[in-house]
Amino acid sequence: MLHIVDHPLIQHKLTQIRNKHTGTKEFRENVNEIAGLMAYEITRDIPLRKTETETPLTKCITSELSRDIVLIPVLRAGLGMVDGITNLIPIAKIGHVGMYRDHATLEPHSYYAKFPYRIKKAIVLVLDPMLATGGSASATLDKLKSEGASDLKLVCIVGAPEGLERVSKDHPDVDIFLAALDEGLNELGYIVPGLGDAGDRLFGTNDFPEQS
Ligand code: PRP
Ligand code: URA
Repeated sequence: MLHIVDHPLIQHKLTQIRNKHTGTKEFRENVNEIAGLMAYEITRDIPLRKTETETPLTKCITSELSRDIVLIPVLRAGLGMVDGITNLIPIAKIGHVGMYRDHATLEPHSYYAKFPYRIKKAIVLVLDPMLATGGSASATLDKLKSEGASDLKLVCIVGAPEGLERVSKDHPDVDIFLAALDEGLNELGYIVPGLGDAGDRLFGTNDFPEQS
C-alpha cells in the first residue's frame, strides 16, 4: 500500500533537493532531514512493551520499543538517509545491500549484501531516495525475504508510478512510503521532474573533472 508522507517540513526540504542549484552539503543535509521526518511518521504505530524504571524519585512503569528495527540502505544513495534516521532511532541495526542499475538496460545488479543477525523478527526499513523502474527495490526486497525478513517497509523520497506499480505487484505485502509521487520516467529512466541522480548529488560524483 502507498503512503505519501507529505508533512509541510518534508515538502519544504523536498523543494531544496529538487533544485538543481542546491550543492552537495545542503543536498546531503536535506536528504537526511527528510529521512528523519519520514521515519518519525512511519514509526508512529510500532509496538511498545511495559518496563519498570527507577526515576530519581521512585519506581514506575514506562514504555520502550518491543521490536528490533533494522535499516537497510540500498548502496549508494540509501546511505544518505541513514544518519537522519539513526539520530531518532539510535538502537537501530544497519544492514547493507549493494545494488546498481545498468545505465543501458536499467536492470538492477546486486554486488553486496550484509544483514544483522536478527533480521527475521525485526521491523525492516529499506532506504533508497529514488524509486524509478522499481527494479532495484524489488530485487532488494527479494533478497531480504530470502533471508527470512517478513515485516518490510520501503522508504523512498521520490517515486515514479512505474516503480510503484512494479513493487506493488511483486511485493503486495510491503508498505511503500514516499514524500512525493512524480509524473513518470524519461527515456533514460530518470524520474521526472525528480531531482536527478541522487547518488551523484549526495556524493559529489557528478562534478566535471577540473581542466588542467
Ligand atoms: C539509483 C537509486 C536506486 C535506483 C532506482 O541507484 O538510488 O537504487 O537507481 O532505479 P530503479 O528503480 O529503476 O531500479 P543507482 O543504480 O544509480 O546507484 P547509486 O546509488 O550507486 O548511484
Ligand atoms: N536513480 C536516480 O538517482 N534518479 C532517478 O531519477 C532515477 C534513478
